[in-house]
Amino acid sequence: MGEQFLDGKVALVTGAGSGFGREMAIAFASKGANLVLNDINIESINETREIILKSHKVDILLAEADISDEKQVEIMRKDVYQKFDNLFLLVNNAGIRGGSSSLKTKINDYNKVMDVNVKGAWNVTKAFYRKMSKQKFKPIAGKVINITSCAGTDSGLNPFIGMYSVSKAALIAFTKLWALELGQSNITVNAICPGIFLTPIYNNDPDFIREWIKLRNIKIPLDQIGEAKQVADVALFLASPASDYITGQNIIIDGGMTLSINKL
Ligand SMILES: NC(=O)c1ccc[n+]([C@@H]2O[C@H](COP(=O)([O-])OP(=O)(O)OC[C@H]3O[C@@H](n4cnc5c(N)ncnc54)[C@H](O)[C@@H]3O)[C@@H](O)[C@H]2O)c1
Repeated sequence: MGEQFLDGKVALVTGAGSGFGREMAIAFASKGANLVLNDINIESINETREIILKSHKVDILLAEADISDEKQVEIMRKDVYQKFDNLFLLVNNAGIRGGSSSLKTKINDYNKVMDVNVKGAWNVTKAFYRKMSKQKFKPIAGKVINITSCAGTDSGLNPFIGMYSVSKAALIAFTKLWALELGQSNITVNAICPGIFLTPIYNNDPDFIREWIKLRNIKIPLDQIGEAKQVADVALFLASPASDYITGQNIIIDGGMTLSINKL
């Protein structure tokens, strides 16, 4: 994937101020994409922009917005089309942890997790899919990538983070539904489904993650904690022409973790 296959194309990444979001934004810029960096935290996307501009000459729009708020998403949509003439790649990455055993979860915590992880991705996709489908790019007019989680898969459902699991299972379902709904418009929709990765969502703390892995008796066949760059590599593949015939897939990247549950 040496060529600049995102030249002239715009990529919007939600939650681009941290972790996977930042790493994916850097990766897309390295392939020539202009960027819309969204986050609820403006300083964090400012920092992402500075990092990118040090090594890449691309146009960047900072879009501070809470994706769970339809009105803020609508403002972001207007800002995007004021600055750019397309949105080729939409990455629904922003997400939060939360919830314990699902039935013990309080309504406020239910709302918080579902509002960001499910409604947020739905809000943003709803705001952009129409124009994406009318774009000039061929054979694929646009691409959507959702960042789900192994916690939302059958073998990864986890009562310790019950609401989070439910929210990610819903996002996996949305991935498949949107692939069905948008296929006719030449938009592909896929998900990247990470296992356990070192990012600020785990306080960037490998000991904390190791402790959690031990506590939950989780086994990772490759016996390594993932790094954000590895998710960005899969995102680059999904953003590239090499994946143009793939849609509706939830691509697991977990060092074999979900495969191993109850087997190792
Ligand atoms: N790190 C992991 O091991 C792991 C594993 C599986 C899935 N994931 C998923 O990957 C995605 C990114 O996670 P990360 O580890 O990089 O986390 P992170 O906390 O480092 O980054 C998430 C970013 O989203 C932003 N955000 C939160 N709420 C928002 C909102 N309402 N509107 C806009 N932005 C908002 C945060 O400010 C933050 O910058 C999440 O959806 C997470 O659930 C992470």
